[in-house]
Amino acid sequence: MSLTTLGMKIFSKMDPEDAHRLAINLLRFGIFPKNKNLSKDPILEQDVFGINFPNPIGLAAGFDKNAEAFASILALGCGFVEVGSFTPRPQFGNPKPRAFRLFEDEAAISRHGFNNDGLTKGLRRLAVRKKKLGLVGINLGINKDSKTPIADYIDSIIRTSAYGDYITVNVSSPNTEGLRELQNANNLDCLLKDIYKVKSSSLNDKKIPPILLKVAPDITNKMIEDIISLALRYKIDGLIVGNTTTSRPASLQGHSKNEAGGLSGKPLFELSTKILAQFYILSEGRINLIGSGGVNSVETAYTKIKSGASLIQIYTGLMYHGPELFRIIFDGLGNALREDGFANIKFAIGVDAHRWH
Ligand SMILES: Cc1cc2nc3c(=O)[nH]c(=O)nc-3n(C[C@H](O)[C@H](O)[C@H](O)COP(=O)(O)O)c2cc1C
Repeated sequence: MSLTTLGMKIFSKMDPEDAHRLAINLLRFGIFPKNKNLSKDPILEQDVFGINFPNPIGLAAGFDKNAEAFASILALGCGFVEVGSFTPRPQFGNPKPRAFRLFEDEAAISRHGFNNDGLTKGLRRLAVRKKKLGLVGINLGINKDSKTPIADYIDSIIRTSAYGDYITVNVSSPNTEGLRELQNANNLDCLLKDIYKVKSSSLNDKKIPPILLKVAPDITNKMIEDIISLALRYKIDGLIVGNTTTSRPASLQGHSKNEAGGLSGKPLFELSTKILAQFYILSEGRINLIGSGGVNSVETAYTKIKSGASLIQIYTGLMYHGPELFRIIFDGLGNALREDGFANIKFAIGVDAHRWH
C-alpha cells in the first residue's frame, strides 16, 4: 500500500472537517508529494481571459478557504488555485456538523455557510505570495447578515484587485440565504453593471484583474440566456459552471443523502456538464467557461473540455482520489488530446457540446 493510499484511508475514517484541517496543515508544513514536473506539457498550455495557464487543471474554491496552503497546492502540479470564498468580515458559518461524505456515491454534502477568516486576513496572506509559484484566483462571497450585497461585492473587488490573478464573484453557494437570487436577471443586471463601472472607471488607478461569475447548476434555460446576455453586455471575463447542487439524484445511496446543503462530486457530473454545454452552445463559445462539478478522472476532465470548458476545477474528487489526481489528469489529458489529433487543448474546447442536447 502506498503512503498516499494509507493517508487516504486514515482521512476517510476522520470527521470530514478534521480531515480537511489536517490536509491543510500537512500542506502548510510541506508534508506532501511534489509534482514539479507537471505544468510543462505545451499541449495543455493556453491563454484564457488574458492569462497564460500552464495547464487547465485547477483547485476549486472552498478547499483553501483561508489562503493558507495555495503555494503547496501549486507545487502538487495544478495549473491554478482558487482561494476563498472570503466574506468582507470573518464568519463562523453554520453550526457543526455541516460536512458529510457519501462514500457509496463518491460525493459530499456541505453547508458550511462561508466559514472563513475574512477578507482582510486572507489578503494579508496573499500579499506575501511569490507570483512565480503559480496562478491564484480569489473567490468572493458576502456575509450572512449583509444588507448591501452588491455594494459589498464591489468593495471587496476593489480591495482584492492587487492580490489575485483573477477574481470570482460567487453568487451561487446554496448555504447563504438569498445569495442565489443575485443570479436573477434584475439583480444580476445591477451587480454586473456596477462591476463594469469599476472595471472601466478612469478614476480607478488600480488595474482590476479578470472577473468571473460562479453560477449554480440548478438553473433554467431562461436563466442561462439571461446570464449570457448580461455577461456579454458587461464584459464579464468568464463563468464558472458551477457550484454545488441542491438537487438530489434518485440514485444516491449514502446515508447522509438527505442532509441539507450542496451536493458535490460524482453525482454532480452529469448535471453540471449538461449546463456547461448549454452555456457553451447558447453563448456560441463567446464566453470563457470553467467546468466544475464531479471531475474525478481523465475521462471526466476531458469531457468537460469537449463540452465547452477552457479550464476545469476539482474539489470532491480529491477527497476520494488524493492529490495524485492532478498528476493522473495531467498525464492522461495530454495523451488523450494527442491521440485525438489536437495540436493544443484550445482546439478541443466545445467540440462535443451538442452531444448533451
Ligand atoms: C466542502 C466544500 C466547500 C466548498 N466551499 C466553497 C466556497 O467557499 N465557495 C465556492 O465558490 N465554492 C465552494 N465549494 C464548491 C466547489 O468549489 C465546487 O464548485 C463544487 O464542489 C463542485 O466541484 P466538485 O464536484 O469537484 O467538488 C465547496 C465545495 C465543497 C465540497
